[in-house]
Amino acid sequence: MTNDPVRIGFLGTGFIATYHSKSLKRGGAHIVRAGAYDPDADRAQAFCLASGHTMCASEDEVIASADAVYVCTWTSEHKRLVGKVIAAGKAVFCEKPLSPTLAEAEQLVSEVNASGVINQVGLVLRHAPSYLWARELIAEKKSGRVMNVVFRDDQFIPIQSYYASDWRKDASRAGAGTLLEHSIHDVDMLHFLIGTITDTSMRSHNFHGHPGIEDSVSATLQFANGAVGTLSSIWHDNLTRPSQRSVEIFCENRTITMRGHEWFGPVEWHDSDGVTGSLGADELLTRTEPLAYGASNADVAFVHAVSTNTAAYPDVNVALQAHRTVDAMYRSAVDQGRNVSISD
Ligand SMILES: NC(=O)c1ccc[n+]([C@@H]2O[C@H](COP(=O)([O-])OP(=O)(O)OC[C@H]3O[C@@H](n4cnc5c(N)ncnc54)[C@H](O)[C@@H]3O)[C@@H](O)[C@H]2O)c1
Repeated sequence: MTNDPVRIGFLGTGFIATYHSKSLKRGGAHIVRAGAYDPDADRAQAFCLASGHTMCASEDEVIASADAVYVCTWTSEHKRLVGKVIAAGKAVFCEKPLSPTLAEAEQLVSEVNASGVINQVGLVLRHAPSYLWARELIAEKKSGRVMNVVFRDDQFIPIQSYYASDWRKDASRAGAGTLLEHSIHDVDMLHFLIGTITDTSMRSHNFHGHPGIEDSVSATLQFANGAVGTLSSIWHDNLTRPSQRSVEIFCENRTITMRGHEWFGPVEWHDSDGVTGSLGADELLTRTEPLAYGASNADVAFVHAVSTNTAAYPDVNVALQAHRTVDAMYRSAVDQGRNVSISD
């Protein structure tokens, strides 16, 4: 354990790098702003001016300047850059998805595990108060077993508006469309809330016509504990709906509904004995702070893990489980919805 501030570097200075940078500030993380690099020099300059990072001329310069590096580039660059960071023995925060393909994600995970560096992945909903609370409600004995889950996620296709990202319509950089790029979060939350998914069947379609970028997906899911469920993920053109998640969880004696803000709720529940409840905003934050791994702010938790030399969460192994499920879903869709076992 050291009291020294953690020197943080950034590779990629776009949308999500800006989110993490602001989150570090908001959370009062004990850091020094080290190097940042982006081949888009205008972007890098704007990011550095706003955040106080030093604009670097190369990836290597950033890695040399830092104790821990955020990899916030488009997806196809993650594996190569994570490889560089771990080769230098530095801690790494890698954005999701880990890579465009399962094979690359598996390779990345095995390299990170072999290196032993502290690592965290941008599956940030694992720190979100609403999901932490829903998990508590499910775990309560009086709920009974989970029978069914309905998870729906719709977002405007993020190649427009404030995302303005060309790479999300390019399968060589993004890997695929709404399921891998966006709803890998949802698959991860289904694991987090309900448990291991053993089998899936999926149908998908590509309305926008960008090759390899599916924009409408429906999957049925079988969980190891007997629960069943569905996931729908849509990229549409309704700019007034940036990212809207709606989750209903049906237990034997409790129904849990999440239709509000994905972070601040409210989470609502309705029990067989007539008890109903709703928790959101400040009270939700206070009640779930002790449930979050490290801190409810994922970036503060990462910095804390680095400065105390302890494991960060969620790490690449957590992300790999979501990648394996997503890959099975895509294999099912290619085969017109054939059932695919995740262990296949
Ligand atoms: N966790 C989340 O909720 C979340 C949200 C949005 C995006 N993401 C993920 O974050 C990643 C980036 O998404 P974004 O929305 O910030 O995209 P973005 O287009 O806003 O930014 C990506 C930046 O990476 C830069 N870049 C490309 N190659 C680089 C390299 N070798 N070195 C340094 N910079 C490089 C690009 O020039 C671009 O500025 C994606 O993998 C995306 O899936 C995660």
